Amino acid sequence: MRLRTKIILLTTVVVVSVGFLILISIRGVIINAFRGELEKKAVSIANNVSEGVANFILEGDYFQTTQALNEVISREKDVEYIYATNEEGKIFAHTFHDGVPAGILSWNPLNEKGMNVQLLDTEKGYIRDVGVNIFDGTRAELHLGIREDSLKQTLNKMRIITFSTTLFVLFLGIIAAFFMSRLITKPLNRFVEFTKVLGRGEFGRTVEVQSGDEIGELAQSFNRLSLELKSAREKMEEAYTYTHLLQVEKLSSIGQISAGLAHELKNPITTLRMLFQAFIEQPDMTKEDAEVVYNEIEKIDNILTRFLGFVRQKAFNYSEVNINNLIDRVLSLSTFDLQNYRINVHKDMIETLPTVKADRSLLEQVFLNLIINSIEAMPDGGEIRISGKTDDGFVEVMLWDKGIGIPSSMKSKVFDPFFTTKVNGTGLGLSIAYNIVKAHKGKIFFDSTEGAGTVFTVKLPK
Ligand SMILES: Nc1ncnc2c1ncn2[C@@H]1O[C@H](COP(=O)(O)OP(=O)(O)OP(=O)(O)O)[C@@H](O)[C@H]1O
Ligand SMILES: [Mg+2]
Repeated sequence: MRLRTKIILLTTVVVVSVGFLILISIRGVIINAFRGELEKKAVSIANNVSEGVANFILEGDYFQTTQALNEVISREKDVEYIYATNEEGKIFAHTFHDGVPAGILSWNPLNEKGMNVQLLDTEKGYIRDVGVNIFDGTRAELHLGIREDSLKQTLNKMRIITFSTTLFVLFLGIIAAFFMSRLITKPLNRFVEFTKVLGRGEFGRTVEVQSGDEIGELAQSFNRLSLELKSAREKMEEAYTYTHLLQVEKLSSIGQISAGLAHELKNPITTLRMLFQAFIEQPDMTKEDAEVVYNEIEKIDNILTRFLGFVRQKAFNYSEVNINNLIDRVLSLSTFDLQNYRINVHKDMIETLPTVKADRSLLEQVFLNLIINSIEAMPDGGEIRISGKTDDGFVEVMLWDKGIGIPSSMKSKVFDPFFTTKVNGTGLGLSIAYNIVKAHKGKIFFDSTEGAGTVFTVKLPK
């Protein structure tokens, strides 16, 4: 059932029951009051008439008595009959047209009382018989029957008035209920529409209801909910794209690397196969041969170790990373090489560098690869300078060396997997660093002058 129908039904029930209750309670009061008044009136008329006819009765003037009684009957609408008895208790005069009803004297016998009222249930409805004694100590009485006609009329009138008033109030009530329900259902309908909008996933939309009442509060809550849903979804989507990107990134780089890996492994394995083939034909191995075997195996081991290190990284383990501390740790890891190659390090980081959300061990790998490259670019010793700053939403770390530099012809290749100019290099260091930085939505680039030095810049989002 629609809300509007319910409100209208409820109003109808309330109005009708109120009308009914009023009718019932007032009816009793009116009937009692009316009967009281009627009785008073009847007693008063009876007394007057009895005084008026007392002498006629004494004188035995039947004609005058009957005339006096008839006069009263014609004057008083409610009076049904009047009769008088003489001192012997016999009917003396009356107003009955069709003769005196049988047993009338037993209807309301006074039995020496001065006055008595008796309710008679007759064919003409309730009639009150008021009997008064005309002469004390005799049986001369005057009896007057009064009908309740006007009570019936009054009650009918009252019923009509109550009924029409109830109808009128009902009419007003239904109109009021109609408007009231519109007042309530209109915004409610908007809410219903709005929940459909939310159901369709159109988060962030708001419902326009401006009122200071509960409905207004409800609208505000709805709008808050919508905005919260929107931001929750955005966060979810962001998180999804982020992990998704990382995954895609990693898969593509693994594919790229795997192809190179097979190629790279082929060379040392071919060398080993040839050596061992020679060894089968002529089983004496020189120290040089053994060294070659050892070196080739080490190369294979190197390549596989780095490759596995990259591939094994299953999930990125994010935390707030303080770049300053991270660089310190990487430097302490490379202390041995730094001292061995007599390289000074100048670290010039801003202490208040904000943290970045990153996988700590991966970032360590990035900076370790860069520092090792710099060390390897300065075989005769030199200097490494590390500086840090923030730059529109990024934390920027720069790593300078005064090494051999990268020739222009190689600049486009240094990030390629397996590109190396070193005898024992795998060529994976920078490609791994590149992929890690990219997975963090960062940037890595360099500037280099052959013979003068190289500067690598890593930018990570704050
Ligand atoms: N700081 C640098 N100065 C001069 N050349 C560099 C520097 N960094 C990288 N390179 C050049 O880029 C090449 C690729 O570097 P990358 O780190 O990827 O591999 P690698 O250092 O050769 O091998 P690995 O990292 O496995 O030891 C290096 O061989 C070198 O020629
Ligand atoms: Mg390297």
